[in-house]
Amino acid sequence: MCGIVTYLGKQQALPLLLEGLKRLEYRGYDSAGIAVMDGQPVRLMKSVGKISELEARIDPVKFNGTAGIAHTRWATHGKPNEANAHPHFSCDRKLFLVHNGIIENYLPLRRELEAAGHKFVSETDTEVLVHLVEANKKSGLDLTAAVQHALRRVVGTFGIAVLDQDEPGVIVVAKRGSPLIIGIGNDEILAASDVSAFVRLTKQVVYLNDNDVATLRRGDYSIVSIEGPAEVEREVETVDISAEALEKRGFKHFMLKEIHQQPDTVVNAVRGRLLPEEGVSRLGGIEPVLERLKSARRLSIVSCGTSFYAGQYGRYVFEALTNLETDVALASEFRYRSVRFDEKSVVLALSQSGETADTLAAIREAKRKGALVLGIVNVVGSSIAREAGAGVFMHAGPEIGVASTKCFTSQSIIMVLMALLLGRYQNLTFNEGLRILRAIEEMPKHIQDMLDRQEQMLEIARKYHKAKNFLFIGRKYNYPIALEGALKLKEISYVHAEGYAAGEMKHGPIALIDESFPTMAVVPQDETYDKMISNIQEIKARNGKVIAVASEGDREIRKVVDDVFYIPRTLDLITPLLAVIPLQLFAYYTADLHGREIDKPRNLAKSVTVE
Ligand code: M6R
Repeated sequence: MCGIVTYLGKQQALPLLLEGLKRLEYRGYDSAGIAVMDGQPVRLMKSVGKISELEARIDPVKFNGTAGIAHTRWATHGKPNEANAHPHFSCDRKLFLVHNGIIENYLPLRRELEAAGHKFVSETDTEVLVHLVEANKKSGLDLTAAVQHALRRVVGTFGIAVLDQDEPGVIVVAKRGSPLIIGIGNDEILAASDVSAFVRLTKQVVYLNDNDVATLRRGDYSIVSIEGPAEVEREVETVDISAEALEKRGFKHFMLKEIHQQPDTVVNAVRGRLLPEEGVSRLGGIEPVLERLKSARRLSIVSCGTSFYAGQYGRYVFEALTNLETDVALASEFRYRSVRFDEKSVVLALSQSGETADTLAAIREAKRKGALVLGIVNVVGSSIAREAGAGVFMHAGPEIGVASTKCFTSQSIIMVLMALLLGRYQNLTFNEGLRILRAIEEMPKHIQDMLDRQEQMLEIARKYHKAKNFLFIGRKYNYPIALEGALKLKEISYVHAEGYAAGEMKHGPIALIDESFPTMAVVPQDETYDKMISNIQEIKARNGKVIAVASEGDREIRKVVDDVFYIPRTLDLITPLLAVIPLQLFAYYTADLHGREIDKPRNLAKSVTVE
């Protein structure tokens, strides 16, 4: 949700900033801009559309300079146009500022600044920031102090970077509620919303805390709080991401690469965490809170989007394997509920990015009320990873396609491990535990088997991709998979799709069914099979077309439905984590047949850092 990158060093800033912006494009891509400085007046270029469009408009000769800030936008306040694109500038065009987040009190601030003579040229909330800094500089403060004073007036969230023509060797960055990370190179220093923007140059990073204001100089930096003059220390950490992990490696899209990575990402999620000799799992990240977890009575899973559907799957798993009363909440709705927490309550946040603003707000609320907060997160160093009391990393590597795929399976499998660990202290037997572990060990082979047959899904997508609407149905563990399949299809192909619990069909949605409205039914041979067949028959009786995701060897299903994709047989509990793979492929191929921008679907951004 907007990406920031800055560079200050000895190399030309422009190519490094453009490279960084391309890495951050998943965060938003409706417009972009760059400001570069080198003793001469700051040069500024903004453009509507993708980074490539910005790049095409820049003359590199004119944009020479070794300091600069850049931004890729996901619009919140104001349409995607050049005026609203960042960097924003002060009235004297000496200060340039980029921002990720939302300034909630921008309207009163804007009125005040306009009354004082400041001229605004955009509709954004951001622009007040640069004018506030300008007003403070006019009163004689240096850039760092002017930024501190400005941010004290602000209600909302921000990651910002500011360039000042009067202080050419300095870039000031600050954050509250939006991520911002400093990269420390050799006589050069960078900052970005995500380390992927600069990981090719340096792996030495400092994660800024909320309310930190950092002054960056070539090869040097210092940090103060928004409130005070005293310097604060932040640890320098080494990140473990290779530049290759950020490439498509021969796949047409990142999404397809990430679907295909799942045999490996499942292995990475469980590596060192399976103890077959004891029929249990080991999760080092939650060992420090294990005693509290063992005595917990209630578990609330909070998350958004695909992570929410993983949470719905997780609820069935925790209920099946443990004694925990489990509920799952959309993080954005969590604050409106009057959930009572005590020392027996656990809140589990699921998040690929670890930056989703709603999920972050939910865990802060839960912490305030005394719950133990755990996280299952992919991005190490992210806000949720740092704010959760304990947790488990997915180790899935960067997920770049906006549609989440490999992290759905990773976070789901980690919930199985968590439930198994707890369940073994409760009623779960060694043999039951061992069967789950064996099924997990077989997952990579099973996923690979389905990926080797991906052409079958391409054929199915060819047959159905012109349908304007789709229904996805499933029961029990596979109900969340139906929801996830529908979300995948709509977000990347823009085909309307709804996920439903199959039992709900006759309570309303079956009215939609006719020969033009196909249904994808997740129908493995488990305890829900007979009821699913009845639901399918009801659809067929109304001329609806049905594609089944069914268990290998189920010959009967062919007599009932129009098309079948077979999935390998495994435990009922693990089946949905296989069933989701063909649904990911179906969404991918349908979107590709429609010629969609699969990795960057319209109106979306990878991490949603505004509430
Ligand atoms: O990073 P998170 O897991 O917290 O993100 C949550 C959702 O924004 C995310 O899953 C979104 O729904 C994806 N576009 C789904 O593919």
